[in-house]
Amino acid sequence: MIERMSAASPPADLSSELLSLARAIALETGRMVVEARRGGVEVADRKSSPVDVVTQVDRDAEQLIRTRLAEVRPRDGFFGEEGAREPSESGITWVVDPIDGTVNFLYGIPHYAISIAAVAGEPDPQSWRALAAVVVNPVTGELFTATAGGGAYLGAQKLAIRAPAPLAESLIATGFAYSEKTRLEQGAAIARLLPRVRDIRRMGTASLDLCAVASGRVDAYFERTLSPWDHAAGALIATEAGARVSGFDGRRADHLMTLAAHPDSVEALEAVLRDIGA
Ligand code: IPD
Ligand code: CA
Ligand code: CA
Repeated sequence: MIERMSAASPPADLSSELLSLARAIALETGRMVVEARRGGVEVADRKSSPVDVVTQVDRDAEQLIRTRLAEVRPRDGFFGEEGAREPSESGITWVVDPIDGTVNFLYGIPHYAISIAAVAGEPDPQSWRALAAVVVNPVTGELFTATAGGGAYLGAQKLAIRAPAPLAESLIATGFAYSEKTRLEQGAAIARLLPRVRDIRRMGTASLDLCAVASGRVDAYFERTLSPWDHAAGALIATEAGARVSGFDGRRADHLMTLAAHPDSVEALEAVLRDIGA
């Protein structure tokens, strides 16, 4: 048993054990979510704004993940988007987005994910140490995984980011907040960025955006106002594939900014993003 595990040095076999558990639970939850959608899906509630919606399936998925984790690791903490919180007695906390890309899920766009990360330390992205991560798109079956120091994978294939590209030839993924005021600022920033890059992608699922950096499907990704569950798993996957994932000014990725890119490109990209007011 792990007593108050240090955030600095996780044993590799522990990370693998956490990954196996997360993988099994993410796949089971994915099957449940896809099946539930076949029966039709409706908005159950609005959260931070009228466009920030939750369905009963989001809640049921979080409950399933929490129950399964507690069966095997009752002393771990839990930090889920739909409100479930459990303090950690083991030093490990599970940071969970039961359905990332809920708007895609609602509309039947086959691009959403179950995102599960195990972190050591408090569930705070400024201080946690991510140990294991799973992001699965249950519609396509694509399963992204990573352990700290153990690399990132899509299924059995080891992932590596793309070689660095000039900004003008970079495909950049991003996302938008649910707040109207922030969206006005984000829209203005995108208008300035679009003429300077190959193109922009807004795919609707932050965890999969980070996995897209990991798998070389985009050159970079940035987004303001993410919550810990949006990036916990995807950031470890992108990092283990060779990306630098950070905030601005040397901060770690968090609510203020999450930026993922090739380590040789990240500084220039930060300067441009500042310039356009992203
Ligand atoms: C959202 C998605 C989206 C991102 C938003 C997130 P949700 O998560 O990841 O791509 O732009 O910032 O809140 O609400 O679908 O879990
Ligand atoms: Ca999310
Ligand atoms: Ca969600």
